[in-house]
Order: sequence, then structure tokens, then C-alpha cells
Amino acid sequence: MRDLFSCHFPFSIFRFTLKEVLHLKNMAESIAFSQTHDRQTIYTEITPQIKSLVAGESDLIANLANISAVLKEAFGFFWVGFYLKKENQLVLGPFQGTLACTRIDFDKGVCGHCYTTRETVIVPYVDEFPGHIVCSSASKSEIVLPIFDNNGEVFGVLDVDSDELDDFSEIDADGLKNIVNIIEELI
Ligand code: SME
Repeated sequence: MRDLFSCHFPFSIFRFTLKEVLHLKNMAESIAFSQTHDRQTIYTEITPQIKSLVAGESDLIANLANISAVLKEAFGFFWVGFYLKKENQLVLGPFQGTLACTRIDFDKGVCGHCYTTRETVIVPYVDEFPGHIVCSSASKSEIVLPIFDNNGEVFGVLDVDSDELDDFSEIDADGLKNIVNIIEELI
């Protein structure tokens, strides 16, 4: 039975497993995505599902927690999470991955750089980024996106780390931006 549930449908263009299809049909908390390394495809598939997932929940922290879980599951990123502006620092929010630095000053690290420049930052080689904050030596490349509130202030950042060098491209910047746009509608 377990094997059957893990089988891919041979004629399905999306190659969802039966288990994934059943989850999609019966459980709003589950997502389905193609078994592919094509990130564009995965972003296209998961973004509307994330929109549906958060639509039924008003708690922001719960939604950020699930979004980080979805990104971790769909892409296998080393670390996915949020730093949220609290007074004069960025403070660790919901995340998936290894333990991380809890507080980042606005002028420190990739996250601080993203906060102050208000722009998406792609760091292909973290060792070459001045002031990069090492939460884990396994992290080799990183992308950080700003999240804006209704007043146009930076509310926080979405930080994604990879254990591979040069792992992020404009596909990730665009795909993650669409997910940040969903979050901004919740703030
Ligand atoms: N590397 C980040 C710190 C956060 S961790 O990667 C989770 C930075 O330089 O801001």
C-alpha cells in the first residue's frame, strides 16, 4: 500500500504522486508540485497554492511559518525564513532549517543590506560579501528580499540560503517576489 501511494502516475504530465494528489484533494495544508529541478515550474505551481493556504488564516506568524515550510519542502533549500523589524533590529521569525542568529542590526549582514537598500540581494558566494553574517558554515549562497508594509516601510525580509555556491538567479528573485507580494497583502 505504501508503495502504491508513493508511485508516480505514469501518464500524468505533472508527475504528482498519488499521495500528493490525495493530499491536495483532501487537505488544504498540503501542497503538490512536480518532481523537477526546474525552479520556474515549481514557483508557478506553488504560488497559487500558497495564496490559497494563507487565505483561510489570519495569523501572520502562522502563515509565515507555513510559507517557510512550503519553500523548504518544494526546493530543499538549506535555510528559509523571515527576519522581522522589531524596534531598531531585525529579529528572527518563523523559519525552516538549522538554528540561526536571532538579531541582526540594520547595517549588518546581507539581511541588513537588504533592509537598508530596500532591494532584493543575491549573494552568489557568501564569503565574498563584506559583513556576511555566518549562521551556518554550510551556507554558500543567499538571496534576501524586502517585505513592505502598507506605508512602504520595510516590515521584514525573506532570507533563503543554499548549501551550493551561486545557487540563486533572477528566477528565484521573481518567484520569491511573487510570494512576498502575497505576504504583503496580509500585513
Ligand atoms: N547570512 C545572513 C544572516 C541570516 S542567516 O543566513 C539565517 C546575513 O548575512 O544577514
